[in-house]
Amino acid sequence: MSLNAKSVQKDFPRAGKNSNVFTAVHPIDFNLQPGKIIEITGRSGSGKSTLLNMLSGILKPTSGQVLLDGTDLYTLDDNELSRLRNKNIGLIPQGHTALLGLSILENVMLPAILYSSSPAPRDRAMELLTQVRLEEMANEKPNELSGGELRRMAVARALLMSSQYILADEPTAGLDEENILSVMNLLRKTADNGSAVLLVTHEQEAARFADEILTMDGGRFI
Ligand SMILES: Nc1ncnc2c1ncn2[C@@H]1O[C@H](COP(=O)(O)OP(=O)(O)O)[C@@H](O)[C@H]1O
Ligand SMILES: [Mg+2]
Repeated sequence: MSLNAKSVQKDFPRAGKNSNVFTAVHPIDFNLQPGKIIEITGRSGSGKSTLLNMLSGILKPTSGQVLLDGTDLYTLDDNELSRLRNKNIGLIPQGHTALLGLSILENVMLPAILYSSSPAPRDRAMELLTQVRLEEMANEKPNELSGGELRRMAVARALLMSSQYILADEPTAGLDEENILSVMNLLRKTADNGSAVLLVTHEQEAARFADEILTMDGGRFI
């Protein structure tokens, strides 16, 4: 199993006098490792989310490749890509991703409902909701939850399928101390069970849970 970025670069169009593109990520090689949490930290705007999104299959690099077990994600059609991502990658994107018409429990089960033929793993979803301390909210709708509670819901959802790769973009943003610790412990446990975890965070507290810490600045590792 491997997820490798090879010389991935991302340019965004930008109106300006000197240049009409802005390079958010300069060519980077990057690998995740089973059993390890790799933390990427760095100031806002340094390219962390852009890199994570390229790795997760949702943002096509301007150049370079992202290889999942040797398959370049960005050569697949939408259907193949969705299936491969859902099977292998648990993504906690930045911001909110709740489907408002579904309950919290249904939101967490969504990856299984969308792509799996077996019955939705209700027990597993409840266990994860308990681990992020949301079990009492299972039957609420997302608009009843605070921002921090929705963050924790996103963590539970990303872990549902026991994916080989977990890509977490600021999973503890807006959480209090106690909830930061429960999310970090859960990510640590996930890595200890063999998943490869990428953790993008500003959280000081995260460092002691990580196996390796990389810092980005200006679209490069420093
Ligand atoms: N869709 C986009 N269009 C244009 N510029 C973008 C886009 N996404 C990100 N950027 C720019 O790329 C840089 C890196 O952004 P990002 O990867 O979100 O940083 P970080 O996650 O480290 O805060 C920022 O300057 C940001 O404004
Ligand atoms: Mg970001």
